[in-house]
Amino acid sequence: MIDLPVTTRRVSGTRLLDLCQARGIASPVDPFMGLPMHLNALKRHGIAVHGGDLLEWFVRAGEGLVVNDFTILRESEVAEVVEMLPGRIYPNDLFRAWEGVFFSEDQCRYLGVWHANVHALRSDGQTGLAIAGLWHVLCHWLLKARYPDDLVDVPPSELAWHYIRETERWVIDNGKRNTVRRGDFAATLGRVRADAVYIAPPGRISSAKIDPRVWMWEAWWQGDPYLNVERLYRDKVFGGRTHDDPAYDRAVGEVLAAAEAAPYVEASRPRVETVSPNADEHYLIASR
Ligand SMILES: C[S@@+](CC[C@H](N)C(=O)[O-])C[C@H]1O[C@@H](n2cnc3c(N)ncnc32)[C@H](O)[C@@H]1O
Repeated sequence: MIDLPVTTRRVSGTRLLDLCQARGIASPVDPFMGLPMHLNALKRHGIAVHGGDLLEWFVRAGEGLVVNDFTILRESEVAEVVEMLPGRIYPNDLFRAWEGVFFSEDQCRYLGVWHANVHALRSDGQTGLAIAGLWHVLCHWLLKARYPDDLVDVPPSELAWHYIRETERWVIDNGKRNTVRRGDFAATLGRVRADAVYIAPPGRISSAKIDPRVWMWEAWWQGDPYLNVERLYRDKVFGGRTHDDPAYDRAVGEVLAAAEAAPYVEASRPRVETVSPNADEHYLIASR
């Protein structure tokens, strides 16, 4: 059994929307975006959004949720993702390493089938939506393993069908060019011009504390159940070196320096405002 955090703290799209609208921010960039549901919410309200992350599956999901304006997965296309297709050869042991540890034999087989089918999809938009939909299957299974009596038993392909069809409601055109990129925060900030930088950086020793679902989904997307996500972060600013306070402070300092060009962000600016909608949420907003 894996240790699932009680809650996964995620930024609320509505909160960000309020913060943007109150200041006339029309194009924020989030260089540590994670799963960009919050950027999708801003996009829905006409804001041009940009994001980046080091993990590939977040970026792929962003191609469906942020960049994509029109493409959905229709019923026949969902069927091509969730079921084993006649005539296609599937490696049936790709995720066998997870069998009995995290998942059942049947679930591992489906993870392999979905991996192959999603990689065969025709557009980046559809691929991103399928990844985001199936991510909810992963979460459902892991929760179900932990609380067997609390969630209904649904066959894998039906569950996948349900969650992928749900992605249709996230597809929206806001008439803007919205972007996501895979890369270090500095690369994202160097390439995107935006009104504001939204920074939710990794916490201390974040690579060791990464939510197991997140590395697992990267491993699934890459087809490597042994993938070591820590390695992806190791040479980066927040990898390995941030165990002590000064190192972490330096890392955050590097982010602020990289964000320097945006009108809203940096703490040494003349106007620094604190917005605390509740005891757990605090936003420091710095502007010129
Ligand atoms: C705190 S989480 C993102 C939170 C996200 N905004 C949310 O609300 O869910 C930090 C993210 O930064 C990414 N990350 C870590 N180091 C990075 C780096 N050097 N450059 C870009 N992204 C990085 C991680 O993969 C992770 O998705």
